[in-house]
Amino acid sequence: MSDEPVTITAYPDGPLLVRGAARIVDAAGNAVERRRRTVALCRCGLSSIKPFCDGTHKAAGFRTDE
Ligand code: FES
Repeated sequence: MSDEPVTITAYPDGPLLVRGAARIVDAAGNAVERRRRTVALCRCGLSSIKPFCDGTHKAAGFRTDE
């Protein structure tokens, strides 16, 4: 496993960008396959590929707090 620290960046009006070797699991604890080292997690709730972002937040006008 990489020693690189995992970083999670909250993008304004968008997803959470996860960089590094974080293990992502579903509500039951099952591993969610990730194909990229950097992944975007949906936080608007509208993505059709949850837990990942598919860009729908833009069309939906999703807004986060400042
Ligand atoms: S944050 Fe991008 S689709 Fe939800």
